[in-house]
Amino acid sequence: MKKGIKNNISFFKPWITKEDKKAVMDALDNSLLTDGPILREFENKFAKFTNAKYAIGVSNATSALFLSLKALGIGKGDEIIIPDITFVATANAVLQTGATPIFADVEKNSMNISTKSIIKNITSKTKGIIPVHFAGRVCDMKNISKIAKKNNIVVIEDCAHAIGARLNKKHVGTFGNVGCFSFYPTKNITTIEGGMIITNSKGIKDYVTSARNHGLTKTLTQRYSKGKPWDYDMMQLGYNFRLDEIRSALGLSQLKRIKKLNMLRKNIYEYYNMKLKNLNGIITPESSSKGDHVFHLYIMRVEKNNGISRDKLFNELLKFGIKTSVHYKPLHKFSTLKKFSKNKDWMNSEKLYHEIITLPFYPNMPKKHQDYIINSITKIINNK
Ligand SMILES: Cc1ncc(COP(=O)(O)O)c(C=O)c1O
Repeated sequence: MKKGIKNNISFFKPWITKEDKKAVMDALDNSLLTDGPILREFENKFAKFTNAKYAIGVSNATSALFLSLKALGIGKGDEIIIPDITFVATANAVLQTGATPIFADVEKNSMNISTKSIIKNITSKTKGIIPVHFAGRVCDMKNISKIAKKNNIVVIEDCAHAIGARLNKKHVGTFGNVGCFSFYPTKNITTIEGGMIITNSKGIKDYVTSARNHGLTKTLTQRYSKGKPWDYDMMQLGYNFRLDEIRSALGLSQLKRIKKLNMLRKNIYEYYNMKLKNLNGIITPESSSKGDHVFHLYIMRVEKNNGISRDKLFNELLKFGIKTSVHYKPLHKFSTLKKFSKNKDWMNSEKLYHEIITLPFYPNMPKKHQDYIINSITKIINNK
């Protein structure tokens, strides 16, 4: 064992550069600290990066999903199909509108929502689908779009894991009616807390721009300009889901490095795959040759019949000082979500839940940490 490494392997470490810090400090010198020009610039650059007509910054991806559902008229009595394996935020956003989340099974290899299971779960109440581009891999948007069109339902893409992911040069979030991004610290770029909505619909853009800001017709800047700035209206029920100038400055600075950040992720992902793929009972995640992947998480599987279980590997790795995780417990297993279980069509999500393990993984992860993790897993598997 290499000296100094034991007990020191973080699951994730944020990477905030000197440039990021300078951008934040500069933003702090301005008199307008929220809803101002830096947010507008971040929105414009993000729209350009994703080739969407509009990008609207919000407080996080959960509020992005909620506002998108509201903009599309989703509410009580409606059913929204979401994958059984995703972070609880996807379900929470649906529930906050009064609608019911319906949990579809996922594909065994990609862990993305299964189109077969979507079809099985469609009823007369179904109003939409939320595909999650899980761990950075693009969902089968061609077939999901076809299903949505045929059934006259909307598609809200959960792109929390997928900043920079494209299929045939088309960025995720632009296949459906709307796309929602997260800038939480572990995501491919961060604003600490923060989110973005992208859409080509002016109606959606107008609704979310006002609803994120108390349902008002004027922004903060407009309320201090000439004319009758005090005479603003409240057009609809609103929320405070704004993204401030400091976070926007950090996001802008990080967005400049997104290509590099995603490339570094890819390199570590491929290195793990190369070194772990021949271990008995370990199933490494599929590599991607189509460029439709931004490697948000490294999730491998431990086959049950190999004599070492996922739980045992998790505990053994902790003894080596390596913190791993599981993304995620299926939604139908949560106390508050159990009651929405209908078809119980979760063959893959049930199986995956007992096999998946997420390894430490972040763009500037030291090579010696990668090797230490690989060597520790190899030792555990070979000595079992
Ligand atoms: C798939 C998915 N959707 C939505 C979210 C919510 O993101 P946020 O923390 O920005 O609200 C997350 C956060 O981890 C997520 O993983």
